[in-house]
Amino acid sequence: MLVVTTARKPNKDKEKEAREIAAANCLPYIPRENKSLDSLLNDFGAALVVSDRRLSCFTPAGELFYHPNMAAMRIRLLRQGKADKMLEICGLSAGDSFLDCTAGLCSDSLVSKYRVGEKGRVLSLEQSLPIYIVMGHGLKNSGPPRFQELARGIELVHADFRSYLQKLPPRSFDVVYFDPMFDVPVMEASSLLPLRPLACVQPLTREDIALAARVAKRKVVVKQRSFFVFSRLGLTEAGGNNRKISYGVLEIKENESDS
Ligand SMILES: C[S@@+](CC[C@H](N)C(=O)[O-])C[C@H]1O[C@@H](n2cnc3c(N)ncnc32)[C@H](O)[C@@H]1O
Repeated sequence: MLVVTTARKPNKDKEKEAREIAAANCLPYIPRENKSLDSLLNDFGAALVVSDRRLSCFTPAGELFYHPNMAAMRIRLLRQGKADKMLEICGLSAGDSFLDCTAGLCSDSLVSKYRVGEKGRVLSLEQSLPIYIVMGHGLKNSGPPRFQELARGIELVHADFRSYLQKLPPRSFDVVYFDPMFDVPVMEASSLLPLRPLACVQPLTREDIALAARVAKRKVVVKQRSFFVFSRLGLTEAGGNNRKISYGVLEIKENESDS
């Protein structure tokens, strides 16, 4: 069960914030008192903890919190004129709209927001409630000041992309993007370790790609392990940025996505 609490010895504001997060998400609020994190995790399995520094979700796998480090590194390289494989494959430019169906740590959303700029739109969907709460809070309230404007420009919605895609009008986003949890994780992607036990893990299906193809104006893009057989989803392999990752693409032909 997921509960909300504070760090030990919270001030009144942090206690109020934790109570508000609990109430807004219909989660139990547990006064921290002198309980250790281990005993909380023993009793409940997962705890959202409001501290002076940030909002985190603790599980036995570790602490999940918002940090734009990965995105910051990619944006630094973009500023130096280097290419970013994901942006290249998505073909995003200023003013475009991007639907990120699998927000996770929001690194891809942040990099996309950097590329599409103020006039562009990034809407990101996350099905896992604790991940949504932690990332939503972080995008609004934390991270280095130079990233805050970018982060606040991302619209994060708590939703299953399967139902959300069905509600969107045809051709409402230039690019629809999926980065689902891999069956076989890339072990070096340590930032995803605390996310894993909280994440939704259903594999993508051809039906999901069809839902996305109705909503996309130009492309549906899927990130996967390099040994993934993209033709299973009706996608064409478009290469990757290293030996471990690859992207599959469905190009939308005129009149194809509005049926
Ligand atoms: C590998 S992570 C995405 C990482 C992300 N691209 C980034 O840059 O940080 C996959 C995320 O998709 C979420 N997810 C899985 N299935 C989903 C669904 N049906 N609807 C919305 N989100 C989903 C998982 O909970 C997880 O947080």
